Amino acid sequence: MAVQICYPRIKNIGLRGIRVADTKISYIDGMKGVLQYRGFRIEDLAKYSTYEEVAHLLIYGHLPSRAELEAFDTRLREARMVPPEILDALRGRAKTASSMNVLQGAVPILSDHDPDFVDNSKEAVQAQTVRLIARLPTVLAAWKRICNGEEVVVPRSDLGHAANFLYMLTAEEPHELPASILDVCLVLHADHTFNASTFAAREVASTRAHLYACITAALGALSGELHGGANDRVIQMFQKIGSPEKVAGYVKARLDAGERIMGMGHAVYKTMDPRVPILLEMALELGEKSEESFWIKIAKKVHEVTQAEFKARKGREIYPNVDFYSGITYYQMGIDPDLFTSIFAISRVAGWCAHVIEEKFAEAQEKPVLYRPTAEYIGDYCGPQGCKFVPLKERKN
Ligand SMILES: CC(C)(COP(=O)(O)OP(=O)(O)OC[C@H]1O[C@@H](n2cnc3c(N)ncnc32)[C@H](O)[C@@H]1OP(=O)(O)O)[C@@H](O)C(=O)NCCC(=O)NCCS
Repeated sequence: MAVQICYPRIKNIGLRGIRVADTKISYIDGMKGVLQYRGFRIEDLAKYSTYEEVAHLLIYGHLPSRAELEAFDTRLREARMVPPEILDALRGRAKTASSMNVLQGAVPILSDHDPDFVDNSKEAVQAQTVRLIARLPTVLAAWKRICNGEEVVVPRSDLGHAANFLYMLTAEEPHELPASILDVCLVLHADHTFNASTFAAREVASTRAHLYACITAALGALSGELHGGANDRVIQMFQKIGSPEKVAGYVKARLDAGERIMGMGHAVYKTMDPRVPILLEMALELGEKSEESFWIKIAKKVHEVTQAEFKARKGREIYPNVDFYSGITYYQMGIDPDLFTSIFAISRVAGWCAHVIEEKFAEAQEKPVLYRPTAEYIGDYCGPQGCKFVPLKERKN
């Protein structure tokens, strides 16, 4: 007879704090609120660099010289067009599909049209990376326009990465403020060490699968509401709350029911995430311009009440995470909430690719040959001989 194996149950920590590999790409000190890409503080990168510069830094390991940046940027601009097969595939999707699902579905088709796809050298994977960074925004903007019954907008090579995305989305000349704010958002989201989606990408890379397979896996992981999927849920939550006066009741009821407050808390930061003040400042700047600071009022109240309630209930602090104010920032730019997580993705693709390159080409001692964790078996067990197998026709149940 089968028995259930009973091990002493310990809280499953989901690999938190477990070192699985070494990385040179980014660094977080969750207790001090520090985030650095290849040694550079996120505050400095947000203030002084562009997404293109940061992507170069992540992929090639150093800040580009002027000539290197120009060459990299030119390659990105030249690679923006997507093959017509992609647009056909987008037109074939149900209009109800989420943009994250659509983006994920487009990646294998993009691989079909990558001339370096069969080459496994580091240079070829870097070339694939350039195409992915350049093309995902085109796919996303095209999808949104197809969904809205509008003409797809051809990318422009005279615009920077962020500005071109806004142009492809709206078919209008992008304004300077939203374009520069989006550029900073892309910088802030470009990498974040071994988060769930990056680990998914690296895990797939460790099987020696190709870059496009790794990015497809990462997109799936990012879509969940405990990861990148939180930013549109944050706006939905604010809309549901409806006014600053209703915040306290909403937060208390949710916590009483054991539910989570979207955009609050982080698996690594136990103090303020350094990206949050930068996002709040930009959200405030946009709010003043579009007079939608109503959402900021609700956000600040949710932040304040959740912190107070958390302190009273659990005796410790909780802080907003990157998704808390990024959603408001995009919302105030007039961007559809369905695109929020996908915008995170079109930025994070640089980090994912850098990690895949590291996984594939770093020294053997810096990472395992293949990730293969273990799990405690707690299912039925009848001893080493196995449970008695009863053929289907003799089975009573
Ligand atoms: C990100 C997240 C998954 C991290 O979870 P975690 O690693 O388990 O967080 P911690 O270890 O710091 O805290 C765990 C405790 O705080 C609670 N907690 C954490 N975030 C919470 C939130 N946003 N709302 C309510 N409770 C929360 C958990 O329920 C847990 O309670 P317990 O100890 O009584 O079981 C979590 O904070 C969360 O779900 N946040 C909301 C979703 C979100 O914004 N995701 C985007 C992340 S960038």
